[in-house]
Amino acid sequence: MKDSLFIKAAFSQETERPPVWMMRQAGRFMPEYWEIKNKYSFLEMCKTPEIAADVTMLPVDLLGIDAAILFSDILVTGEAMGGDLSFTQGVGPKFANPVRTQADIDNLQTNVGDKLQYVADAIKVIQQRLNGKIPLIGFAGAPFTVMSYLVEGGSSKDFKLTKLMLHNHPEMAHQLLSKIATVTADYLNLQIAAGVNAVQIFDSWAQALSWDDYTEFSHRYIVEIISKLNRKDIPVISFCKGSSVFAPLMAEAKPDVISIDWNVDLLDIKNRLPQGIALQGNLDPHILYADKKVIKERIHRLFDRMKGQNGFIFNLGHGIMPDIPFDNVKYAVELIKAYKY
Ligand code: CP3
Repeated sequence: MKDSLFIKAAFSQETERPPVWMMRQAGRFMPEYWEIKNKYSFLEMCKTPEIAADVTMLPVDLLGIDAAILFSDILVTGEAMGGDLSFTQGVGPKFANPVRTQADIDNLQTNVGDKLQYVADAIKVIQQRLNGKIPLIGFAGAPFTVMSYLVEGGSSKDFKLTKLMLHNHPEMAHQLLSKIATVTADYLNLQIAAGVNAVQIFDSWAQALSWDDYTEFSHRYIVEIISKLNRKDIPVISFCKGSSVFAPLMAEAKPDVISIDWNVDLLDIKNRLPQGIALQGNLDPHILYADKKVIKERIHRLFDRMKGQNGFIFNLGHGIMPDIPFDNVKYAVELIKAYKY
């Protein structure tokens, strides 16, 4: 895999064009996803290796992207620790037993590799199907983002209960974050042992935090996780919403790649980071709703800006929305694959 466009770009080596993949590329914007989703629940899809492999392969076969991403969810770690997780259409994820007291935290388990074995099984089936064609990215949620779902009991707009725990009971918050960090490092190493070619850590809701709180309650656990990874030949990608602010701190955790949101000029931020850190990003996903001539103009603008830079992986600043037209996503991938530096 070391000669693939994606791995070379992730290690800041020269490539003939930037590789492309998109966060949430295996999902609801594809009619073929719905054909599978109408038959199974989301968690059944994640936990049945053959089905997880079928969904992982959809964007590989239908879009021709340069890297596959394991079909799973960041919340499976929370479930393995003891969270009663469900996904309901239109509601999103729910933990029926939110973690709010010291006893709740004490009850969470950390030795949960057996419960996540289905992910290792899925990775093996996916790698057979990929047959060396492109790399497979594994992933996990960052402790702060996973904590927010465990504490709130689901999605939240303002993270009120989570922030209250950080501010009023920091010692409890640290115990919870520390348990999640232990599980997350083991879980990513389990994925690496099963055969993924890269890993991405998703801290989707970091942007809700102040600089000080990000440093104390998110960043330090990402440092811990990355330092524990068996990462030889395996690039580590650090993503957060808020990376246009936090990128200099994220770089201190020593990832190979930082995935950047769309609020910032990509070249500008590259110039402010240490040499040797690749960047992934950073098109506003809303551009993919727009007319094709706008999509073309914005992608070319980004690529022209990054011309001559090694270590650039095209992605969106955040995941594809479910109602983005499939045809526009396909058009974007074709444009990128035709681009020559
Ligand atoms: O990128 C991929 O295609 C791989 C699969 C993937 C999913 N979730 C599948 C999924 C990945 C990488 C994730 C990560 C994830 N999950 C994140 C971090 C990424 C991000 O976008 O910030 C977060 C915050 C979650 C938590 C989560 N899972 C939410 C909030 C939801 C509901 C979202 C919604 O829009 O309703 C999910 C469910 C989920 N995860 C779906 C998929 C395809 C939709 C399930 C369905 O079909 O109903």
